[in-house]
Amino acid sequence: MAKIHVLSGTDRPDSNALRVSKYAANMMAQKADVELFTLEDFPLADVVGGVYGKTPKSVTDFNDKFLDADGFLFVIPEYNGGFPGILKLFVDYLPFPESLYKVPVSVVGEAAGAFGALRPVEQFEQILTYRKAIIYPERMFIQNVNNTFDEKTGLKSEKLQELFEKQLKCFPDFVSKLDYNLVDA
Ligand SMILES: Cc1cc2nc3c(=O)[nH]c(=O)nc-3n(C[C@H](O)[C@H](O)[C@H](O)COP(=O)(O)O)c2cc1C
Repeated sequence: MAKIHVLSGTDRPDSNALRVSKYAANMMAQKADVELFTLEDFPLADVVGGVYGKTPKSVTDFNDKFLDADGFLFVIPEYNGGFPGILKLFVDYLPFPESLYKVPVSVVGEAAGAFGALRPVEQFEQILTYRKAIIYPERMFIQNVNNTFDEKTGLKSEKLQELFEKQLKCFPDFVSKLDYNLVDA
């Protein structure tokens, strides 16, 4: 069974990102060994002042646990037309270049507004591309999240829920079937 880690991409308490992440983790658990992470647990206080190149043990521990997976699902909220700053900070403290390198990554966006974090997801995908991750082509953009998503039943729109489930159920298969011999050739 593939091991997939889900990251809620904000440290905002009581976030929709965490609600969506929990839902996604539960759905994928039918097909993968899934663990949920949240940037609420990122040891932010330990990187104040910029300790690049001297990553504190608290951050290394957080990163090591997160990176110990075959694939990742990032749930990304929209903040000011972009993704949250803490998500970039998290990526900036990941080991370079090996983390994310040729690792399958799936992305879900969610926002209070009408665009469902389309821009943040695509901005984040630029970074994933830079880090040479393998981006899963199906994405979900949850618009108007406070009215369209229920943490128990998912998306209220039947059609969007079908697409969301497809992404969450097929990504574990994609991760399992990825031929790392070919990827590394
Ligand atoms: C700092 C900040 C900036 C935000 N900017 C936007 C935005 O540009 N567009 C939008 O649709 N929603 C915006 N929102 C609302 C979030 O999309 C909304 O809170 C949503 O639930 C996702 O955030 P959450 O996972 O933190 O709950 C913003 C929220 C915060 C806290």
